[in-house]
Amino acid sequence: MVYLVTGGAGFIGANFVKYLLKKHNDIKIIVLDNLTYAGNLGTIKEDLEDPRLIFVKGDIKDPEIVNDIFERYPIDYVVNFAAESHVDRSIENPQIFLETNILGTQNLLDIAKKHWSTGKDDKGYPTYKEGVKYLQVSTDEVYGSLGETGYFTEETPLDPRSPYSASKTGADLIVKAYGETYKMPVNITRCSNNYGPYHFPEKLIPLIIKNILEGKQLPVYGDGSNVRDWLYVEDHCKAIDMVLLKGRKGEVYNIGGHNEKKNIDIVKLTISTISRFMKEKPEYRKVLKKEEGDLSWICDELITYVSDRLGHDQRYAIDPSKITRELGWSPETKFEDGIVKTIRWYLENQDWVEEVTSGDYQKYYEKMYGSR
Ligand code: NAD
Ligand code: DAU
Repeated sequence: MVYLVTGGAGFIGANFVKYLLKKHNDIKIIVLDNLTYAGNLGTIKEDLEDPRLIFVKGDIKDPEIVNDIFERYPIDYVVNFAAESHVDRSIENPQIFLETNILGTQNLLDIAKKHWSTGKDDKGYPTYKEGVKYLQVSTDEVYGSLGETGYFTEETPLDPRSPYSASKTGADLIVKAYGETYKMPVNITRCSNNYGPYHFPEKLIPLIIKNILEGKQLPVYGDGSNVRDWLYVEDHCKAIDMVLLKGRKGEVYNIGGHNEKKNIDIVKLTISTISRFMKEKPEYRKVLKKEEGDLSWICDELITYVSDRLGHDQRYAIDPSKITRELGWSPETKFEDGIVKTIRWYLENQDWVEEVTSGDYQKYYEKMYGSR
């Protein structure tokens, strides 16, 4: 099988590439990524040595590049991870979110349709090569925000509230439209918050880890009571592969970890886990950027409550029973284990953190959080 994985140098896309290379022998993967601030070739450095992987630097909006890929390689699957993915950035600059997330998706669909169609049926609908599929990686944020109870199911009405989630909803709708109008074989997956290795340190968990190691304050938006439903990234990758191979055409599948946590609890757990690691394994102390002392400074006093995110969604929680029932997927990594693995990975991969934050990260940080 030949996969076109867009956004494969980003957090989830790179984890997906690693998952595929481990899981399947007889595959070819073309990664298309234009290496924005969030994409880093270092993330898939070792994978690039694998003859099954080919990297193409380019924009999903560029018809020539995408067309060229389809002409060179017999693509069976498109998995579209490429996106502007950070809610806070979408509040600052919505336009690029619409361009990449909506127009980029439409461009991929159009070119896949052109290369995959084999003719027309008696009603005039295009017919397609056997076994091909387009999978759109979407988000639970398209459903909006929950109160204290209830879960998002695939039937929950779409109700996006940030420029990011509105752009992801627009993309979902154009995917659905190609599924209905042109009968293209498509799936949409909607996932909750991922965490794990290679998560860019603008997102909550890796930002908190980075700041603790630097002895900086830990910015918690509002009162910290917002709830996210955390899923270990490898469990997400497994779910996507299952939807690709076994998902019913045209269907949406929600993917979630049954793992709701308040932001403040995540931050406190990260502090206490790092503090414990530093005591149990003194060799980790070399990554601290602040004078060690007695380490008592690694404590909840680092937390600082800052102005809330505009339009901050209160709670996300996924009901993943459809994918469990139909495809047999369920999350395997308990949060308590996943967060320990994640923190250990960051302690042991500070070179990666330094590499991905060497560009404009500092400017971004100061703009968003000031010089705390
Ligand atoms: P990310 O920001 O870490 O990575 C995005 C990747 O896309 C980067 O490598 C970037 O260079 C690339 N990219 C951006 N614009 C591009 C363009 N125009 N052409 C080609 N490549 C481009 O994002 P992520 O967290 O890995 O998320 C991947 C996908 O999963 C996104 O579609 C996101 O909406 C969705 N998602 C993310 C989460 C999460 O918790 N991170 C949860 C649910 C859904
Ligand atoms: O739910 C899936 C979504 O999860 C994905 O679609 C997005 O691409 C992904 O970025 C993520 O969005 P969130 O906005 O939920 O993730 P983020 O890590 O930015 O924030 C998680 C929560 O933590 C959120 O309630 C805001 C809060 N937060 C975040 C940051 C960066 C803080 O309190 N302080 C911070 O500094």
